[in-house]
Amino acid sequence: MVQQRLSRDVWDETLDWMVEEQTMPELDPEERAVILDYLSTFLSATSP
Ligand code: HEM
Repeated sequence: MVQQRLSRDVWDETLDWMVEEQTMPELDPEERAVILDYLSTFLSATSP
């Protein structure tokens, strides 16, 4: 969902929500940090 532009905190909550409510498998913490770095770099409100 490339239209979504969320801050790191909101992406973090979105991942929690997917895991807790939407059957997404839990990520290992290092992998999760990498994903959050990516999302907050390229898919936050402040990125192009
Ligand atoms: C980095 C990878 C991922 C990103 C960035 C991502 C992002 C999102 C976003 C933005 C939403 C919509 C949230 C909303 O409606 O406000 C969503 C929904 C969802 N995600 Fe993910 N997601 C990822 C990986 C996964 C994976 C691996 C699963 C595995 C099951 C998953 C399961 C779901 C489900 C079931 C929904 C709800 C779909 C619906 O309501 O139609 N997601 N995801």
